Amino acid sequence: MAIVRMPGLVDAHVHLREPGYPAKEDFGSGTAAALAGGVVTVLDMPNTLPPTDTSERLAEKARLAQSKAVCDVGLFVGATTTNLDAYLPAAHLACGLKIYVSDTFGSLRIESLDLMHRFFRSWAETAASRGFRSLQNPNGLGPIAVHAEELMLPVCLALSHLYQVPLHVVHVTRRSEIALIAKAKERGYPVTCEATPHHLFLDESDARRLGPYGDMRPRLATADDVAALWEHWEVIDLVATDHAPHTHAEKQGPTPPPGVPGVETMLPLLLTAVHEGRLTLEQVIERCVTAPRRIYGLAEPPQTWIDVDVDADYVLEDGQMRTRVGWTPFRGRLVRGRIVEVVLRGVPVWREGTLLAQPGSGRVLFGAAEAVVAP
Ligand code: DOR
Ligand code: ZN
Repeated sequence: MAIVRMPGLVDAHVHLREPGYPAKEDFGSGTAAALAGGVVTVLDMPNTLPPTDTSERLAEKARLAQSKAVCDVGLFVGATTTNLDAYLPAAHLACGLKIYVSDTFGSLRIESLDLMHRFFRSWAETAASRGFRSLQNPNGLGPIAVHAEELMLPVCLALSHLYQVPLHVVHVTRRSEIALIAKAKERGYPVTCEATPHHLFLDESDARRLGPYGDMRPRLATADDVAALWEHWEVIDLVATDHAPHTHAEKQGPTPPPGVPGVETMLPLLLTAVHEGRLTLEQVIERCVTAPRRIYGLAEPPQTWIDVDVDADYVLEDGQMRTRVGWTPFRGRLVRGRIVEVVLRGVPVWREGTLLAQPGSGRVLFGAAEAVVAP
């Protein structure tokens, strides 16, 4: 047994489903699953019911998170076709602005170029007085995160360049996308990007094998696309899971929704890649700790670490999962690396498969839970 002590991970892309979808997840179950995976900070997406698209809804979600979370939580605010200005008073309380410009679960899709233009402009104007967030400027605005494929990716790159708004491209999947982002970075565009473990470790043959349990947006890609992500590893700023739980009943129903859970399997999968010599431990820490903290301006909580038995090998099974939906698209996979203990701000919060933290001991970031926001 070789125990390695590492900083707690950040998962910069999760869907914890509260409010609105308690059968899938809530802040209690989702943050417990995070701790099980060695994750001490999650950034939660706005496609809930109702969506997180106004300052009141952001404040309400923050209060829900504060009452239940066992790890730290940052909240995205979402762009909708009707809310162009309604969230701006609370923009600095969010970890960033999420814009869905491609196919997704829920109703948050923006298709009009004119509207996208106005979101970038208003975010830039709001940031003009505060600046953008960094570890030195926690009161600034976060990046604009986009779910952009195909034609929408160059559009978003152009808008971020035009308004000099940091753009973060979530779940990059295809060779063409990562190649374009590489070029934009070479040209000095203010862009960063992420890849998910499922797009790094599964491909379309797994999608056929898994059926609805291997369906998400963007879909699993070709083996060549997966190879392109690994070839461009240096261009991928961070790894985040897009943890998007749906129940067995939904996945087995007539119209299975897209999305797969992942927050608790990211670290074992990446440590297995380290064991196989595909990655180094330093690269995992850069992608899952240092880069997300830098990009979203998230200070590291003091006295926070995880202890991992990097030699332990085991098979991932649905029954081990802490997410409320109780399954993983990686079921049956042999992994190496078990999270033994998680310590958050000096307090052991997870040990040997047991949750030790009290509900509400996690923090909602950027003051969103305490803020009184004007309607
Ligand atoms: O597969 C997905 N599921 N992609 C998304 O963009 C949303 C997510 C969800 O919320 O279920
Ligand atoms: Zn997502």
